[in-house]
Amino acid sequence: MKRQDSSNEKKPVELNNMSFRFPGSESELLRGINLEVNRGEVLAIMGLSGSGKSTLCYCISGIIPHIKKGIIEGEVKLQGRSVSEMTIPEVSRMLGMVLQDPDTQLFSPTVEDEIAFGPENFGLPWSEIDARIERVIEKVGIQQHRYKNPRELSGGEKQLVAIAAVLSLEPDILIFDEALSQLDAAGREMIMELIVRLKDEGKAIIMVEHNPDNLGVADRIKLLKNGEMFDLEPHDLKSHDTETHDTGPLDLKKLVLKLID
Ligand SMILES: Nc1ncnc2c1ncn2[C@@H]1O[C@H](COP(=O)(O)OP(=O)(O)O)[C@@H](O)[C@H]1O
Ligand SMILES: [Mg+2]
Repeated sequence: MKRQDSSNEKKPVELNNMSFRFPGSESELLRGINLEVNRGEVLAIMGLSGSGKSTLCYCISGIIPHIKKGIIEGEVKLQGRSVSEMTIPEVSRMLGMVLQDPDTQLFSPTVEDEIAFGPENFGLPWSEIDARIERVIEKVGIQQHRYKNPRELSGGEKQLVAIAAVLSLEPDILIFDEALSQLDAAGREMIMELIVRLKDEGKAIIMVEHNPDNLGVADRIKLLKNGEMFDLEPHDLKSHDTETHDTGPLDLKKLVLKLID
């Protein structure tokens, strides 16, 4: 008999013909989305502001429909299980999401408490929680902020704390929703290296990104436009970059429109 094996064989993230609309809205914000992310893969999602990228992330992470309301059709599956049939604690054992705005994610009085919150909720022993705190603050380079109140930190530092807090849960699936947007060049570089390491460890990673400079780590790039998902080849971006020598976000918007229209 064939061995029925581990969740490893199941797709970390799989969306089949998924559509979404907000309650009370007549039109669908997302239509017929098909998406999969494999172990050891970074999928980047781009799109103009308001195109529904964060909403898509909420649908994948179960925030919709469990916390925010909305009507989802089609399938959203994590490791082969339907997100709508899982509880939020079940989802959080598999998936960690760094939100676009760190202020909505951080609520503890110290950075250390913020990082400990998830592992404490998982009921891990204090020695293990402490080891994880040490590990993640070192990984994202925030040792000097360990005992500070996250509210006193800069936007970029807050993003690093949010990333550390998510990493402390050691999820197999990670979503970064424009989570590098407030970091300086050095911070971005460090997180990009971290993403490469996480990918090598076999994590499935979704990155919502505006900055083409951050797309070097992406294995595949998708574009969300008018509620639909399109494939974008990394070389489309690179060839354009060398033509214009401009990688600014405004130029990227032009490129995205040019590629799709
Ligand atoms: N709770 C809500 N009810 C109705 N519309 C919403 C709600 N939240 C967001 N939207 C709208 O959905 C659209 C997509 O938003 P969002 O997913 O945040 O886009 P992006 O992350 O690509 O900037 C926007 O037009 C936004 O105004
Ligand atoms: Mg967004």
